[in-house]
Amino acid sequence: MNEHDSERIAGLLESDGMTRAEDDADADVVVLNTCCIRENADNKLYGTLGHLKTWKDAKDGRRIVVGGCLSQKDKDIVQTRAPWVDVVMGTHNVHRTNELLAYAAEHGPITEILEEAVMDDHALFPSALPARRETSYNAWVTIQIGCDNTCAYCIVPSVRGKEISRPFTDIVSEVASLAAQGITEVTLLGQNVNSYGRDLSLAARRDGADVSASPQFAQLLREVGAVEGIRRVRYTSPHPKDMRIDVLEAMAQTAAVCEQLHYPLQSGSDRVLSLMHRGYTADRYLERLAEARRLMPDIAVTSDIIVGFPGETEADFVRTMEVAAEADFDSVFEFIFSPREGTEAALMVEKFCDPAEVGDRFDRLRVVVERSALRKHRERIGRIEEVVVDGPSKQDPRIMSGRTRQFKLVHFTVPQPLRPGTYCSVEIEDAAAHYLKGHLVEVLHEATHKIRIPLASA
Ligand code: 5AD
Ligand code: SF4
Repeated sequence: MNEHDSERIAGLLESDGMTRAEDDADADVVVLNTCCIRENADNKLYGTLGHLKTWKDAKDGRRIVVGGCLSQKDKDIVQTRAPWVDVVMGTHNVHRTNELLAYAAEHGPITEILEEAVMDDHALFPSALPARRETSYNAWVTIQIGCDNTCAYCIVPSVRGKEISRPFTDIVSEVASLAAQGITEVTLLGQNVNSYGRDLSLAARRDGADVSASPQFAQLLREVGAVEGIRRVRYTSPHPKDMRIDVLEAMAQTAAVCEQLHYPLQSGSDRVLSLMHRGYTADRYLERLAEARRLMPDIAVTSDIIVGFPGETEADFVRTMEVAAEADFDSVFEFIFSPREGTEAALMVEKFCDPAEVGDRFDRLRVVVERSALRKHRERIGRIEEVVVDGPSKQDPRIMSGRTRQFKLVHFTVPQPLRPGTYCSVEIEDAAAHYLKGHLVEVLHEATHKIRIPLASA
């Protein structure tokens, strides 16, 4: 979500006549788009701002902008701790970047944090703003902002506001216009995508309209998948408590929707899940997962797991390892619990786990996950996979890297380089826990998007 906001900020700056600088020395403006979901980001911001003071003092007219959810959370603190910052903006005023910069140039530093998204603002959804996308063949599309859940550890609801679904037709028409530009893959973004449309239904009920006609996430998947030119649809993230069979059926029945599911478990212990207010049990989670695999046998499943939630016992953690092993994940993002000020879990200080114990659990869980990841990857050896080219491999430019429909990273040999966005088939020859290796079999579909020609700086 933050990366997508960054694309929008860059797009807005470009629409105002700026061009991307190759490094800080050439730049006139530096934007730090922050995230506060875990502690590290906080520490990094103030360290980086310290270095940027020297950068700013070295040349007149240089400006620093701090945006994102950390500034939303810290509000006036950013400019108190780093008065050399020109603009501090929150998560709800990305669309104001250019105006705020212009204001700062004339009048000096400004902090503008809106407490809530302005409902009737056309720029409410980041996807409604111009973007400077890193790639021209896939794109993020925001379908919902904010979150109405109350996970005890999570700061997102307080910095991203309440859940608001983007109108159905706006989403579908954005996807159609992306497809017209040659984009073939879209990732639908939201904090809790399978509650998409719930607020729209409530609004429809208030207005006396036919609620059954209100669009839901399953229908959105089908319609986005039916847009001509769209070959791959992904989404992130669903919430296990709201995962309904209609969504799994829509995935299975819509050819463009990829066999990939990011399905955040957070903990395998029912006791911890209940303390977290997650609204499901491990059994219920595993049942839904089995249903997904029954409908889509080749689906890859990834997850998020928090280690060391306050009060997590060894028995709770062992249960997490058991459930993770049973879930047979393709990969897991493991996080060490980080107390976020203002959340319920941050107040459970006397229950905080011993950091050494948490580190040990983190490593033990990684062993469990890497075992299933490697086995799942080895099962793919000898298969032919559809791969979309990302570009030359970072390690060896003679080799290309790309992603399968399951979002597996593949490094593969080619007789000659292929353009990013090209669809090809690749035979898998080797596997590691985090990637596959193979060779090109054939090119299936050439990339059709326009190549971006950098504007010459004036
Ligand atoms: N501590 C550790 N991990 C967290 N996450 C969210 N909040 C915290 C926190 N306070 C993790 C969750 C979520 C992912 C995006 O970040 O696992 O799914
Ligand atoms: Fe945070 Fe829970 Fe909302 Fe996800 S669903 S953003 S973890 S509160």
